[in-house]
Amino acid sequence: MTPDPATRTPVIIDCDPGHDDALAIALALASPEVEVLGITTIGGNAPLAATTRNAGRVLALLGRADVPVAAGPAQPLNRPLETAPQVHGVSGLDGADLPEPLAAPRPEGALEFLRQTLLAAPAPVTLVPTGPLTNIGLLLRTYPEVAAKIGRISLMGGAMRAGNWTPAAEFNIWVDPEAARIVFRSGLPITMCGLEVTHKALFGWPEIARLDALGTRIGTVFADLLRFFVKFHLERYGTADTPVHDAVAVAAVARPGMVGTRRYHVDVEVTGELTRGRTVVDDRGQSGTGLEANVDVALDIDRAAFADLLIGAIASYG
Ligand code: RIB
Ligand code: CA
Repeated sequence: MTPDPATRTPVIIDCDPGHDDALAIALALASPEVEVLGITTIGGNAPLAATTRNAGRVLALLGRADVPVAAGPAQPLNRPLETAPQVHGVSGLDGADLPEPLAAPRPEGALEFLRQTLLAAPAPVTLVPTGPLTNIGLLLRTYPEVAAKIGRISLMGGAMRAGNWTPAAEFNIWVDPEAARIVFRSGLPITMCGLEVTHKALFGWPEIARLDALGTRIGTVFADLLRFFVKFHLERYGTADTPVHDAVAVAAVARPGMVGTRRYHVDVEVTGELTRGRTVVDDRGQSGTGLEANVDVALDIDRAAFADLLIGAIASYG
């Protein structure tokens, strides 16, 4: 059943496409529960120019070149950008035949696009960051007044325990820990879709076969993208079961009942030689007096239901 347009959640996706970012975009645009107001981009999986081009390529593939794309700064707030070509390829979206963008990015850039879109929105907007948090941290630092128009931040990033880029840190938080600290200390409602939940949102050969079986160009392109992504995980971790990290942050908005969360206090380490970028999640009330739980930490998702949701979304494009 298609929800009443008045009840759809307005969202802005902030991303670094990125194979799993591409799936997150496809899920959001196919979900009747959300209205995508725009996409902002940041460097992370690949340099900014590549991730911005990739956002446009995904929108062209999906027939949604009408969705505005706005690019952020080329570097994190306080550090040089470090990317992940070994994971996503030099282009940031290796492995499939994607069209070129059909529209240019917005001239005003991500910071002004976010500010103007939020201030103009009739109701608070949910931000869905699926890359480093540079754009969101810069927005909150530069224009703190826009926080009143942010209903929630549903982000992919962080972890309660081990990281995936260093032993301590997940990649998105590691790239720009200063920006992440601004976000986690903002006081805004936050859903943190970290590695504990994303490693339950797994796609492997069976899910790829289901996408191939759709017999559609879009299904085949996403199957090809996943083949590339899965091969990296197979070589690196010895398993084809690959977390589709970023789409969980969208699922948490479109189908909140699908994602189990617990409220904990979370902050971000920015100076540790070994622990830079760690999300310090207090699941035992040990943060000290007065530090109340500030984040809904996502911990559970049903793999089969998630796969059905994402494959159903891709099938819906025809
Ligand atoms: O750690 C996983 C995250 O890093 C995902 O957002 C992936 O796209 C990369 O950006
Ligand atoms: Ca990402």
